[in-house]
Amino acid sequence: MESSLTLPIGTTLDRFIMRGQEEFPGATGELSQLLRDLALAAKVVHREVNRAGLAGITGAFGAQNIQGEEQMKLDVAANIRFIRALAKGGEVCAVISEEEENMILTGNHHAKYVVAIDPLDGSSNIDIDGPIGTIFSVYRRLSSPGSEPTREDLLQPGRKQVIAGYILYGSSTMLVYTAGKGVHGFTYEQSLGEFFLSHPMASLPADGKIYSCNEGVSNTFPAKVNEYLSLCKERGYSSRYFGALVADFHRSLLVGGVYLYPATAKAPKGKLRLMLECNALAMIAEQSGGKASDGTQNILDIQPLDFHQRVPFYIGSKKMVDEIESMHRS
Ligand code: AHG
Ligand code: MN
Ligand code: MN
Repeated sequence: MESSLTLPIGTTLDRFIMRGQEEFPGATGELSQLLRDLALAAKVVHREVNRAGLAGITGAFGAQNIQGEEQMKLDVAANIRFIRALAKGGEVCAVISEEEENMILTGNHHAKYVVAIDPLDGSSNIDIDGPIGTIFSVYRRLSSPGSEPTREDLLQPGRKQVIAGYILYGSSTMLVYTAGKGVHGFTYEQSLGEFFLSHPMASLPADGKIYSCNEGVSNTFPAKVNEYLSLCKERGYSSRYFGALVADFHRSLLVGGVYLYPATAKAPKGKLRLMLECNALAMIAEQSGGKASDGTQNILDIQPLDFHQRVPFYIGSKKMVDEIESMHRS
């Protein structure tokens, strides 16, 4: 009897993580637990996102974050959920978040890992039922476990990430991560409350036909970037822009393309945050065959000086990012 009743149910995130652990003799399971903590917070945020309109959690919170951006209620709720899950899990000693000015100490001074997080990416999509996301980076701390974590524990180049990932709350909720051995995507099965492996060893197409940027402000992009956009149009490429980095990147991961957020008049250093948004996606891009650049250098090689540092950001199909870099150089 071959029907949906008897088909295998698939591989859960937990089982997949467990198997991954078997590949690393000596692994203590702390990273596995950390990933499970993030997945739990993701399920809670998924629930809040899905009933936001009913639960009175759409709209503005009534305060601004450290960058002077208006916080939405869901920004605040997601920030609390993720930080609480990481603090309770016990594997993380310090966290930086887009919604917090300073490093948060979890109190677990013996823990080996630190986390950088954008708890809710694409906030302007909350009230219009558009896709939103969460972005996270995990690093091994540099100071000795047991001591108080330092700023330097977090201020590490993206190349040093041990796990990088994102959650996309889109038409389905997905968790995508890499631990340095390829990129794997899991789709949330709400009725079972589990993430199931749906995109093993994702491969970002080497070239694409979609460009993604806020073209409304392109008159203040660098001239070379506008030259590139003209080239895209000459070639008949399509333009797609959700206004939520996670969703725009996810499209590139699956079908190819490039996302651009250059320096603009309003954001002269770029808008996106190196540590809280760019590094995680850059590692996922690289691990799946794509690339991320600030126009002159690989995002993963930049030494951060500040938790909230911004960079121009180009990410996606390798050939497209290479082309943007060579136009920048010329
Ligand atoms: P956040 O909601 O975390 O502040 O991030 C929003 C970011 C990014 O997700 C998106 O691609 C970009 O800002 C959109 O900016 P514009 O509205 O300037 O296009
Ligand atoms: Mn963001
Ligand atoms: Mn955010």
